Amino acid sequence: MLLKNNIDSIKTLIKSENVLTDREERYCYAQDSTNTREKHSLPDAVVFVETIEDVQKVLKFANTCKIPVISRGAGTNMVGACVPKNGGIILNFSKMNKILDFNPVNMTVKVQPGVVLGDLREFVESKGLFYPPDPSNLRVSTIGGSIAQSSGGPMSFKYGTTKDYILSLTVVLADGTLMKVGAGTIKDAVGYHLNQLIVGSEGTLAVVVEAELKLIPKPEASRVVLAYFDTMEEAISGVNNIIASRVFPATIDFMDNNSITTVEKFYPCGLLTDKEAMLLVEIDGFESSMQTQQERVEKALKEAGASNIVVASTDEEKKSVWTARRSSFAATAKLAPDVLSDDIIVPRTNLAKMVRGAKDICDKYGLPVCMVGHVGDGNIHPQIALNLENDEEFKNYISAKSEMYELAVSLGGTISAEHGVGSEKISYFEKTVDTEAVSYMRGIKKLFDPNNILNPGKIFEM
Ligand code: LAC
Ligand code: ZN
Repeated sequence: MLLKNNIDSIKTLIKSENVLTDREERYCYAQDSTNTREKHSLPDAVVFVETIEDVQKVLKFANTCKIPVISRGAGTNMVGACVPKNGGIILNFSKMNKILDFNPVNMTVKVQPGVVLGDLREFVESKGLFYPPDPSNLRVSTIGGSIAQSSGGPMSFKYGTTKDYILSLTVVLADGTLMKVGAGTIKDAVGYHLNQLIVGSEGTLAVVVEAELKLIPKPEASRVVLAYFDTMEEAISGVNNIIASRVFPATIDFMDNNSITTVEKFYPCGLLTDKEAMLLVEIDGFESSMQTQQERVEKALKEAGASNIVVASTDEEKKSVWTARRSSFAATAKLAPDVLSDDIIVPRTNLAKMVRGAKDICDKYGLPVCMVGHVGDGNIHPQIALNLENDEEFKNYISAKSEMYELAVSLGGTISAEHGVGSEKISYFEKTVDTEAVSYMRGIKKLFDPNNILNPGKIFEM
């Protein structure tokens, strides 16, 4: 709990209109997009930072007084990554939302953390370039949050996740010191890649205040091939057939029957509701390659048993398909008071076992599950609809979740691919990660943040 004189001190450092302390205001920042039964702690203050110096001042002060500091973008993460565990100061980056520099020859863009991902994508696309990471919430989520969680999305299959697009980061360390990591060049073989250590560290090592990102040429054309299957196993073998056909789609995504019917119920877009699974395959590249890619993909999918194939090639058709896929979480959320979207990844060779296993586990506990995922990557999101206030459902959920994680690990996978650990998966962290690696991570955290003020209680306990 911050003392009144602490708050008064912050108000001397930062314009007072940028410091929120009313209970109602603070309450909004005790939540993010994670449904949880745990009551989050209220922050003591919310500070809207406008400059790097603002961030430095707050951190220097907080470090001296040992006050937790939690950085926050749009709060769309699903693992409790940007809510306080024990009070403290929220750093709100929504006023640091500028694109600072753009260089089409180098194909780079320099941004502040509060830039909204969708705006960034639109901006670079208007210049013929492309920033691929595309989490479902990109219309609202920010690049700062994306860097914190190393977020991915459907396009990760071909283009990788946020970590693959970081050329340099400017960060403020726990004591307020400014540090730049990464040369900003396309290749950089000089020393340890601290930028890669900070990406995905969920605000626990340093606070990112600027990022230089790599861009790629915008693919000239794209089409989306939708294929329906009578079994989930056939759909997964469709993924393997596509890869064997030497086409490299931008996306190979999956929806099971529950998610298709749930989306159709709330956001009708004409998906077929009588099939057990659907693959959504986006091919991209030169216009002249579209037909060949499409034919190969269709052949691969038919050989796996696809019963219906539909191709979306106009902008409107593609948009409608993607709206369906991206609405899946929102649609599932309408089935019950709460929805939890999990995030599991296994090697593709074990994917069929994981998808079936996760479904069986949820069925065993009577939990309605809508399964979607980026199956090209081996990544699935079991989306479970339930009432967390119901003790029985909650108990079942916890059991199902542990069993799904155990299964993922036993199949050579892990408990998060693109959402992170936050506080939601903290109790599974040490069961998943190599013991030596955990101890090195603790050592790194101590070095960066000796007073444990940066987003404490996330990823692992100190
Ligand atoms: C998605 C989010 C949940 O893929 O990661 O829809
Ligand atoms: Zn996802």
